[in-house]
Formats: sequence, C-alpha cells, structure tokens
Amino acid sequence: MRASSTLHHRDVAAYDFEPYSDAFIEGQHAHFHRMRDLGPVVWLPQIGSFAITRYAELREALRNWQVFSSAQGVAGDDFGCKFTAGVTLSTDPPRHDEMRKVLAAPLLPKALESVRERVEIAATLLVEALVKRKSFDGISDFARHLPVTLVTDLVGLPEGGRENMLKWASAAFNVLGVQNARGRESLKTIEEMREWILNNATPDRFAPGSWTARLYERAEKGEIPKSYCPLIMRDYLSPALDTTISATGQLIYQLGKNPEQWEMLRRDPSLIPNAANEAVRLGSPIRSFTRTLTCDFAIGGVDLPKGARVMMLYASGNRDERRFANPDQFDITRDDLEHLGFGSGVHMCAGMNLALLEMKSLLKAMIPRIERISVGKPTLAYNNTINAFASVPVTVQAAKQDQSAAWIDVTVHVHNQEAEDIVSVEITSCDGSDLPRVEAGAHIDVRLENGIVRQYSICSADTQPSRYRLGILREPNSRGGSVAIHDTVKVGSILKISRPKNFFPLIDNSVRSLLFAGGIGVTPIMSMASALASRGADFEMHYAVRSKARAAFVEELQSKHGNRVHLYADDAIGAPRFEIAKALEGSDPSCHLYCCGPEGFINHVVSSASERGWDESHIHVERFAGQTVQGGEPFSVVAQRSNKTIEVGPDETMLEALGREGIDLPSSCQTGVCGTCIVDVLEGTPDHRDLFQSRDEKFTNKRVAVCCSRAKSKTLVLDI
Ligand code: HEM
Ligand code: FES
Repeated sequence: MRASSTLHHRDVAAYDFEPYSDAFIEGQHAHFHRMRDLGPVVWLPQIGSFAITRYAELREALRNWQVFSSAQGVAGDDFGCKFTAGVTLSTDPPRHDEMRKVLAAPLLPKALESVRERVEIAATLLVEALVKRKSFDGISDFARHLPVTLVTDLVGLPEGGRENMLKWASAAFNVLGVQNARGRESLKTIEEMREWILNNATPDRFAPGSWTARLYERAEKGEIPKSYCPLIMRDYLSPALDTTISATGQLIYQLGKNPEQWEMLRRDPSLIPNAANEAVRLGSPIRSFTRTLTCDFAIGGVDLPKGARVMMLYASGNRDERRFANPDQFDITRDDLEHLGFGSGVHMCAGMNLALLEMKSLLKAMIPRIERISVGKPTLAYNNTINAFASVPVTVQAAKQDQSAAWIDVTVHVHNQEAEDIVSVEITSCDGSDLPRVEAGAHIDVRLENGIVRQYSICSADTQPSRYRLGILREPNSRGGSVAIHDTVKVGSILKISRPKNFFPLIDNSVRSLLFAGGIGVTPIMSMASALASRGADFEMHYAVRSKARAAFVEELQSKHGNRVHLYADDAIGAPRFEIAKALEGSDPSCHLYCCGPEGFINHVVSSASERGWDESHIHVERFAGQTVQGGEPFSVVAQRSNKTIEVGPDETMLEALGREGIDLPSSCQTGVCGTCIVDVLEGTPDHRDLFQSRDEKFTNKRVAVCCSRAKSKTLVLDI
C-alpha cells in the first residue's frame, strides 16, 4: 500500500497518461518532452506513481540508492516487484554488492578479453554473409545474431533453456512493467521459465566453463550461498539479450538514416565507441524502471513522500535538451558518454562491456565491407520496459576494394619457435613476385582462414623485399588470432595480408635515436635498428623482458648491432636491471626516442623522458592493437585505518592490489562508471580515470575511484 503518495502528489504537476500503453510507447518522445517541460518530477495519476523526467535529477536519484531504493523491486507495480524479488536488480547494498560481485565476474573488462576474438570472428562472418545477401532484416538477421548465438553459449544453459531464452527475456521485461494485457500474457511464459529452472538447474547440466556452470561450482565449493544461484541465473537470463538486440537494431537504423554519420565513421574508425554509445543513448533500450523512497525527500525542488514509487525514465533523461544539444539527433561526434542508457550508480548495467563489445565488433567488421546502408520504415516492438524495433528492412552496398585495400596471398616459408610463446613467421607472395616496399616500423594486417584480422609489425627490414618476417606472441586469451598462428599455421599455409602501413616511422636525419622495446614490442624496434645501422646512424637499443626464456631474436640482434643492444631480463641473476634513468643518461632531448611494448612500459619510458625535458615531438610510441589506457607507473597506497602500505604494480589496479593484501573494498562496474569503489583521499594526488565524478569533484582530489584511477604522486594515503 502506498497511501502516503496520494497525500503529497497534489503539489506536483500531473501528467494524465498511462505510460505503459501502446499509445504512449508509440509517441513516447513527444510525451517525454511535455513531461520534462512540466517539471523534473511529475505525478502519473493513472498508475499512482511519480516519474523523474530530466537528466540531472534522474542521475542524482540513480546514484542515491539509500533514498531511491531497489530492494522492494524496480517494476511498475507491486505484482511485478514481487515477481522479481531477490534478483540483483531488486536489492540494495550490502546484499546487492555481494551478489553483483559474483554475477559480474565474467562480465568485467579483463574477463571479457577471453571472448573478444570469438565475438569478433562471429561478427566478421555475419557481416560477410549479409553483404553477400545485400538485403536483410536489421533485427532478426543482424541484431539478434550475436546475442542469440554467442551469449546463450556463454550463459551455458542446457537444451530447452537456450532456445527459450529470447522468449523468456522478453516476457520478463513485460512483467517488469505493469500487469496490463502484455504483462498478464507474459506471466504464463515466466511461469514456464521458473519451472524449467526448478527442474533443470543442476550443476552437471550446464556447459562446462559457462557462466552458470561456474556459478554452481562456486556454490558447491561453499564460496557463495547456494540460494544465490537461481537468482543470479535470472540476472543472466533476462537482461543480456533484448537490451543488446534493441541497441544494435537502433545502431544500424541510425547509420542507414544518417549516411553522413556512416561516412564519417568509415573515415575515422576511432569513433566506433562513440557510435555504439550514441545508439544506446538515443534508443534507450530500457525505457524505465522504478525505485521506492525510503524517506521523505526533495529532488529538483519537489517534495516526495516516503514509500512513494518513482519511475526512472532513462529514455526521457537521455533526450533532455537541458543536457544534450540536439538530443533527437544521432551524432557520433558527441564526446560526452555520460548518457543514462546503462543506468548510473550501483545498479549500472553489469553487462555493458559485453553489449558494447558486440556492437563495436559489428561496426569493425562493417567498416571495410560496407559502402552504404539504406533502411526502410521500421516496425515497433511493444514491450512494457524495452524500447525496440520488431524489424527494420536494410539494404547494403558492398565496399569497392581499392588497390591499397586488396589482400595479397602469401605462403608461409618459415615457422620458427624463437622463444617461449614467440614464433617467427616468414612469408613470400604466392605468385613469386616481390612484396610491396616496406619501411622500418611498418605493420601489416594478417587475415586468417577463420576471417579474423590481426595487425603484426614486420621485423625484417629489406626495403624491396621478397619476404616479410613477423614475430608473434601467443596471447593467453587468444581464441583465433595468435593461437591459430602458433598452432594451426604451418610451413606451406596460405594467408592473406594487406599492404604495409606505417604509423610508427623513423624520423629522417635524426642525429641519434634511442630505441626501447618491451617484450614482443621488439618487432618494429628490430626493423628500426636494422634501418638505422644500414644508414650508419647513431642509435642504442634497450630491450626489456620478463624472463630470458621469453627474449626473442637476442643472438641475431647482438651479432648485428653488438654492444648497442642492451638486454634486461627480470629473472637474470646478477645481470643489469632496466633503469630508465641510466638508459637516458648520455643522450639529450634533441635525439628521437621510439618505444613499443606493454602500456605500463610505454608510460614509464614516456613519463621519464618527459620529466628529463624530451618534447612530445621527439617521443614516438606504438601501442599494441586493442590496448586501452590502463596501468601506468607503479606507486604506493597507504591504507591509513588498516595500517598497511601496498605497492600497486604497473599493470594492476588499486582495487586488485588492495584485495591481494586482504583489503576487500566494495566494487561494482570496475570500469569507473558506477562510483561504488570511491574512497576518501587523505594525502597525495590521484590520477583520476573514472567517469563517475564531475570535473569539479576531480579537481578537489578529495575522493578517488580505486578500480581504475592511479596516482600522480608517489604515494596516495586513503581513508580505508
Ligand atoms: C545495450 C545493452 C544493455 C542496456 C542498454 C542495458 C541497460 C541496463 C540498465 C539501464 C540497467 C540499470 C538498472 C537499474 O538502474 O536498476 C542495467 C542493469 C543490469 N544489466 Fe544491463 N543492459 C544492457 C546489456 C546487458 C547485458 C548484455 C547483460 C549481461 C548479462 C546485462 C546485465 C545486467 C544486470 C545483471 C543488471 C543489474 C545490475 C545491478 O543491479 O547491479 N545487461 N542494464
Ligand atoms: S567499481 Fe564502479 S567506479 Fe569503481
């Protein structure tokens, strides 16, 4: 019973429309516009709820779980709330944080690295097949493919579950609205799902290694309560499909409707993440959920009573003209990703990285293959919670392959183990002709039989070559790229390569050059050393590896370049350690510095050189493909109340380092968006990398998100 809301609603502007009706869904953006103009909060007499309409107030409420509670459910009516009781979405901390930690484990960015290649291969194969067909449906043929094939696999349900996931998910989102005809109809389907879970959810039936199998294994080992399993399984079952399908359908529709945006994206693929997020903002796959007030509270100047149900209108906040310029326009150049399509605060979407990975992989596969996208009139899918198209007619025009984009067929002539987990591969053209001219620092795209394309630097340095040599590291999480080159590719295998591209060239006429290689970063650096030697130029090369066994090409480098090459292996007893200060000694900032390797290594070299006066124009780096700005200089964290000092390594987060030493802090998204892990800073200067705090908050340096931020000072003292 929510009697108290009726006492107060008279003070709030009313909007007399039923927000779960077909008419509202069809005209929702005009309704939302009128509701926002009425005020940041409106009263909806037809369903007896308040609704937050504007971006700023919505964000504030979503981040205040203490007042805007999810524990009584987030559906539109009491029935729907009861039906979804107990799932992570319908809890508050601390129970929420416990469950979220378990459910989010396979969805965190690091864990998703293990599925990246699989997703990219599936996206490439799908796009290639659809380009051949030319015309297809943007929803059933395009948007549904990855969620329905891959995600159901990852969840790992046995037969009977997998085929029904889509139907169950859609029904669950109807029940999460109100029990109108759609909600009531869906109840039957939900009952079917519950019964299936009851009869089939036994650990032995899930695909080994899948998310659900791992869940039950953890419960068997006593690491999590058994009661969490069916609830978390529902967290996987319901939200992973319709949401992503909706956003992907919106993406292809908008790219077809806005050909200039598609052209821009093709010209500048670095806009891919913006494009995916913009589709989520504009489409807002989840139209709304609700919260229940734990006390009387004023928001946006509107008094709301304890116990009131409040709709969180994500779809309205995302088009608030007070926050977004031209909010109804699909614009991939927006550089502000703070939309509310994935929510905000502790309940921020646990699967957003997976959804974005799927969407980004599709765009990556489309860019080289599709010149133009045309779309017809979409038809709406009616659901109480999900905004989606039921179908969108799409026609694509295949991209013309220009000479520079054409693949060259090559044969593998040498396949050699150079060091632990590193092979070298020498390739020549299949028709016996010379390969295209190559400069030091260049790389090629290699296309494997499974369709996946990977970039590898050329480590040989002949300018007019009959062969290229590549050095390839087996990536631990690779499923089809480097592992295929290690295990499947053999002497005689045929591959396809692109013409060489060079984003890491040597600067002509430089007086002296310093070359820095970390691990497999040696490949472009090797070709640079050869080119400099053949010019008679002055250079020194510093090559750092984790162990001697993982140092490739050492003998060759030393025999060619003698004592200009300095090798540092972390495990070599008595041998010199890599010290950047020493390596820079004797060189002044007029010389050019080149660096390739892991992110932490590059950051270490670049920041040390900058401190010693090197100008940006004299520092040249090449990062490994797909590397994001993570890690950096090591630093110390003092956990004041725990009385511990902990070193944070270059490639780990503060959260991980603290956890390693027994200080377990609550966390949720682990990507800097939800704010769960934020703690007070007592001393030191954080290097803020989160998206949660505002610019002003970051400026005060009073609080830091330990899941992603680092330190500018040598030490950070935290109030933990
Ligand atoms: C474009 C795709 C997606 C969109 C737009 C989306 C949207 C959202 C939103 C708005 C919330 C916040 C709910 C709240 O405020 O109460 C949420 C939560 C959640 N999402 Fe997603 N989602 C997407 C994909 C996924 C995927 C692929 C998964 C995979 C399993 C997933 C799992 C979850 C879970 C478990 C929660 C509850 C988190 C919590 O309560 O802590 N979502 N999602
Ligand atoms: S855990 Fe979400 S911001 Fe750190």
